[in-house]
Amino acid sequence: MQTVRSPKRMQRLALQWREQGRRIGFVPTMGCLHEGHLSLIRRARKAVGPEGRVIVSVYVNPTQFGPREDLDKYPRNLRRDLALCRKEGVDAVFAPSDKDIYPPDYSVYVTEEKLSQKMEGRSRPTHFRGVTTIVAKLFNLTQPHVAVFGAKDYQQAMIVRRMIRDLHFPIRLILAPTIREPDGLAMSSRNNYLDPKQRAAATVLWETIRRVRRKVRQAGKPLPAEALRREALELISSRPEARPDYVEFFDPNTLEPLQRVGPGAHMALAVFLGETRLIDNARL
Ligand code: PAF
Repeated sequence: MQTVRSPKRMQRLALQWREQGRRIGFVPTMGCLHEGHLSLIRRARKAVGPEGRVIVSVYVNPTQFGPREDLDKYPRNLRRDLALCRKEGVDAVFAPSDKDIYPPDYSVYVTEEKLSQKMEGRSRPTHFRGVTTIVAKLFNLTQPHVAVFGAKDYQQAMIVRRMIRDLHFPIRLILAPTIREPDGLAMSSRNNYLDPKQRAAATVLWETIRRVRRKVRQAGKPLPAEALRREALELISSRPEARPDYVEFFDPNTLEPLQRVGPGAHMALAVFLGETRLIDNARL
């Protein structure tokens, strides 16, 4: 496994692999890898086969954090990440420095202007501009045939899919399922911030989705989104440690909000536990 720091070297290596006829699978991460990331790496390997090359990027991208967000305390552990990647048979880990990715006079951003206005975009106005900018850069540097994104960040994956289409990147996006702890909490590096009480209350995200899903599936006809939202917000607020940010019901392809919710609709929510903000989503 190669550890690559320099963007130029990364791009040279990826182009070399392409010239040799290797298929390249790419998994972008911000490090602090957990089972969820490892499942994305395995999915990339499956897509490119044993002769293909799997690249994982480990980079905590500053432009996707708001001024009052957790950039400084975001967990970093490159040594452990490298060991995990090696064990998974990754071919290259790309771990660039901030100054190589964003030189002081850096002035080009990539923005998606529709899907990124909703949900996470409303609560974190500059977040998706940072994501599309870094992902476009990483695509250029790693030259992948396929890129694997987790369904846990569903809106992010849909925005990247739109960027791939609209900017004509010759890349297939694979959406890989959310990996959960035994009690249903979606795996996330931010779960590390939770104290024991908050961790216990964090199961409310998945409980809320499951409760709404059961209701929608039993109803036999679409239900008003407003009533479902009210019920979901009440359930979340019944935990003293939890404070809901949003609960949304939307079309899984367009992300357009739905007035009435039936099976096949998508639900997403964001909840604060103390300072920590967690998200989850699922198809109902
Ligand atoms: O999902 C993430 O970890 C990040 O948003 C990504 C895609 C690695 C871009 O920094």
